[in-house]
Amino acid sequence: MSAPRTPLCGARLPRGSRKVGEPHFLESAEGRIPAAGLLSKLRLLLPYFAGTRWAFALGGLGAALAAVCETGVAWLLVPLVDGGMKAIPIKFIADLPHPPLWAIPVALVVLFALRGAAGFVVDYTLAWAANAATLRLRSQLFSRLLDGHPQLFVTRSASSLMNTVVYEVLGGVNQLVGAAQTLLKDSFSVIAFLGTMLLLNWKLTLVIAALGPAVGYTMRVFGRRMHRITKESQVAVDRLGYVVEENVMAWRTVRLHGVQDVQRARFEVSSKALRRLLMKSTVAGATVTPVTQLLTATALAAAIGMALWQSSTGGTTMGAFVAFITAAVALATPLRRLSDVSAPISRGVASVERALDLIHNAPAETGGSYAPGAPGRARGEVALRGVTMRFGDAANPAALADLNLDVHAGETVALVGPSGAGKSTLVNLLPRFLDPSAGSITLDGVELKQWNLHALREQFALVSQEVVLFNDTVAANVCFGTPADPARTRAALVAANLTDFVDTLPQGADTLIGHNGTQLSGGQRQRLAIARAIYKDAPILILDEATSALDSESERLVQQALEALMKGRTCLVIAHRLSTIARAHRIIALEAGRIVEQGSHAELLAHGGLYARLHTLQFRS
Ligand SMILES: Nc1ncnc2c1ncn2[C@@H]1O[C@H](COP(=O)(O)OP(=O)(O)O)[C@@H](O)[C@H]1O
Ligand SMILES: [Mg+2]
Repeated sequence: MSAPRTPLCGARLPRGSRKVGEPHFLESAEGRIPAAGLLSKLRLLLPYFAGTRWAFALGGLGAALAAVCETGVAWLLVPLVDGGMKAIPIKFIADLPHPPLWAIPVALVVLFALRGAAGFVVDYTLAWAANAATLRLRSQLFSRLLDGHPQLFVTRSASSLMNTVVYEVLGGVNQLVGAAQTLLKDSFSVIAFLGTMLLLNWKLTLVIAALGPAVGYTMRVFGRRMHRITKESQVAVDRLGYVVEENVMAWRTVRLHGVQDVQRARFEVSSKALRRLLMKSTVAGATVTPVTQLLTATALAAAIGMALWQSSTGGTTMGAFVAFITAAVALATPLRRLSDVSAPISRGVASVERALDLIHNAPAETGGSYAPGAPGRARGEVALRGVTMRFGDAANPAALADLNLDVHAGETVALVGPSGAGKSTLVNLLPRFLDPSAGSITLDGVELKQWNLHALREQFALVSQEVVLFNDTVAANVCFGTPADPARTRAALVAANLTDFVDTLPQGADTLIGHNGTQLSGGQRQRLAIARAIYKDAPILILDEATSALDSESERLVQQALEALMKGRTCLVIAHRLSTIARAHRIIALEAGRIVEQGSHAELLAHGGLYARLHTLQFRS
């Protein structure tokens, strides 16, 4: 589905400068200091990993095996060096007295083979768990797009939502799983190497262990900074995506007005902001590595110095010393990786945080439980009482002000008025795409809020000025999600006066119409939307400038279809061409959110008010 059309500039607030009084979830990422710690955020992710415990257990086993194999190499050095390259009894394994000469090279190969296999198990099991979790998270996010409060689409851009649902989740979980792999593999390696070192020479080991707190502190400071930079980067990516989104949607406008340079400059600003942040992130990452390396090297130097002194006093054998240093050097790599692990964790958490925020803090739409008894059709009695609709804060003028209106079942009511009068706002209230700021709206005497949302929306067919088509066949766009009924589809296409066009398509109604039907003319798109409304056969019909894109000839043809469709239904019709609404039972003239006059065409003309004025304006030309 295409993104909502938005004006190219102005109109929408730039992200970060939101109006007062909007709900909390709109504050997206910017500037919010993480209140809870990393752990509590990770805990929020746990439910998505349900049922993957076995994978972690298997991965843990693999990691332990891999670590044992890694230290095995150090242990092999003891008999090798102490025996002066000859086979001698192994000191630490009492019942392996005289290994044959070939045993050591063979053992080496076996150790590496085992380590490789174990490493594979770790990578596979964790990736499996991660992908399972990503799948769940993504499904929940998409469900939230489907059931989220309409306000969500006002406050977050299409590109930003797409970014969260598609890229942030994938990237975030991948980062976290990479970190989990490191944690699992490298902590076992560290344990195994430390164990080896303790067994070989516990005094030297203690010297190295003393550096732990310093490394820990470095990691924490760095992790916080990384988290902050990542959150800022998300906002920067959103801004960049937003510029692209607008320029893709409005490419014609941009070219016609020749404002490519302005757009390029906008893009550059966002693009450079992102580059700055990524460089910051690199600097942070590139600083922490040498610092931890320096700490590790200091520890090693101290250990070597002490070992030299120990060996001069005869406290250790040559083989044990070489094995110890081997283990200590080998320890440095997993330790460094562990010290780096805070970066992917904070990056990953920051990425999925917005996704979790969307699930937990963006409210879903809520409806009631009322639904009409079988066959589920409302009579179509609409009543508005004291309805006020105000966008944004109280300082804004109301789009609808204390409006009272009754539309009887089967009645056709036309809404006229200058643009911005509140006509679209009024009809958008009925299927609850908007909720009024004050007042009550009932359908068949039942408050809209008490209606089950699905049941409520089944009562409306809506054709608006803005037609969004799905990248599917013509027929699928007509029956739209309901089981296909070729005969009914054909009838709808005939009624919408669209068969002349459809029959010229290579596969008729089964022709794919492409991305948002861009190959169709405005009139064809609108007639397709009318066919969709005819097919839906709902008791209440809303036409919001439904024929605005049609030329007079096709409008006249569609008009007949619409009139047939309108019979026996409650209809709210907004049309810019007054000729199309002259036959309405009642005409309501709206101005600045208020009803200024109502009556039949003849009455209003006689009255000489707003309607008469609009009428004269239109027919003079
Ligand atoms: N989502 C929105 N956010 C803020 N203001 C809005 C929104 N939708 C409509 N408005 C404002 O409400 C008023 C009525 O708009 P609308 O109902 O679209 O008028 P029209 O009669 O032309 O259909 C206008 O002043 C418009 O700026
Ligand atoms: Mg409108």
